[in-house]
Amino acid sequence: MSYTFPVTRTTHPKPRPADETKLGFCNYFTDHMFVMDWDEGQGWHDGRIVPHEPLLIEPASCVLHYAQMMFEGMKAYRTPTGEIMLFRPDMNIKRMARTAERMCIPELPGDLFLDAVKAVVAEDSDWVPTAPGTAMYIRPFIFGDEVSFSVLPAKHYRFLIILSPCGSYYAANDGGLTTTRIYVQDKYIRAARGGTGYAKVGGNYGGGMRASKDAMQYNCKDVLWLDAAEHKYVEEIGTSNAFFRINDEVITAPLDSGTILPGITRDSVIQLLKHFGVKVSERKLAIDDVKKASEDGTLQEIFASGTAAVISPIGWLCCEGKDYQVADGKVGPIAQKLYDTLYGMQTGTVEDFMGWTYPLGLKK
Ligand code: COI
Repeated sequence: MSYTFPVTRTTHPKPRPADETKLGFCNYFTDHMFVMDWDEGQGWHDGRIVPHEPLLIEPASCVLHYAQMMFEGMKAYRTPTGEIMLFRPDMNIKRMARTAERMCIPELPGDLFLDAVKAVVAEDSDWVPTAPGTAMYIRPFIFGDEVSFSVLPAKHYRFLIILSPCGSYYAANDGGLTTTRIYVQDKYIRAARGGTGYAKVGGNYGGGMRASKDAMQYNCKDVLWLDAAEHKYVEEIGTSNAFFRINDEVITAPLDSGTILPGITRDSVIQLLKHFGVKVSERKLAIDDVKKASEDGTLQEIFASGTAAVISPIGWLCCEGKDYQVADGKVGPIAQKLYDTLYGMQTGTVEDFMGWTYPLGLKK
């Protein structure tokens, strides 16, 4: 089934960002957004594209009190020929379904979701940036806005998609790769078994802000979370999944605990490493083994992966007040190769040998 949506164009188009090399992450939003409603008995209805503007929301809306919401993150990329491409949108659709089930949010049909993304990106296609390291971040989200203080699933929801031309989350000033310092969080936890760790929900991030703020006091950009039960095994980084290269094996936390976000970039990294012939394992890795590897010289690389973070190399871990350097503290070869391949595929400068890109047919 294919969907079309009415468009109300803005009468006040915004000025474009003056310098595409200094976009940062989600500092600018485009002229339009997608909005759709869900009501009991009616399902999803009235999808529409409207000017990007503040929402009217009743203060007693349940999302403002009990956080029944979910979101996704994806990007639209500009190729050298002017085409615009998405990256593995089928994976966003699958993850949305799992998150919706966990949050008791009505499922959004995948073809409706994709048509909505395509329609709003088409409307603001001239906002997709071209500078190296940039893309247009797409943030679909759904929230319950029934006026109710019952701790029960809402009877009315809104689905929105907003767009932002951006650089990567931890970008260097030139849009290229740089290493960051990450704080190993040993006091707070992100997600426990049976919780919402695998789902893309605001609460996972809101609950992590105390830890990220504390990390900044140690001059760290973010936190590396440890498992909730024992504070022993590495899990993920504040905004992204984490990979460790030790003795030529690349290790990332397995998904079976249900505490790890199943990142689309994470999955792509695993598949690319296999394709490159690099040994890659989804297995538990103790933070003590990472520290030991830093000390005995076998820790070759650590990097974060995510839609927002892309591939972000880590040069130092700060753990209980002590610094553990990752190799020479510089960008490692595997992280660089993954970044070049992934971002190259996404922007059409490297052949898409995995069949992951999704051209929108929107040439300028
Ligand atoms: C993304 O990578 O799309 C995310 O949602 C991470 C976000 C918390 C910055």
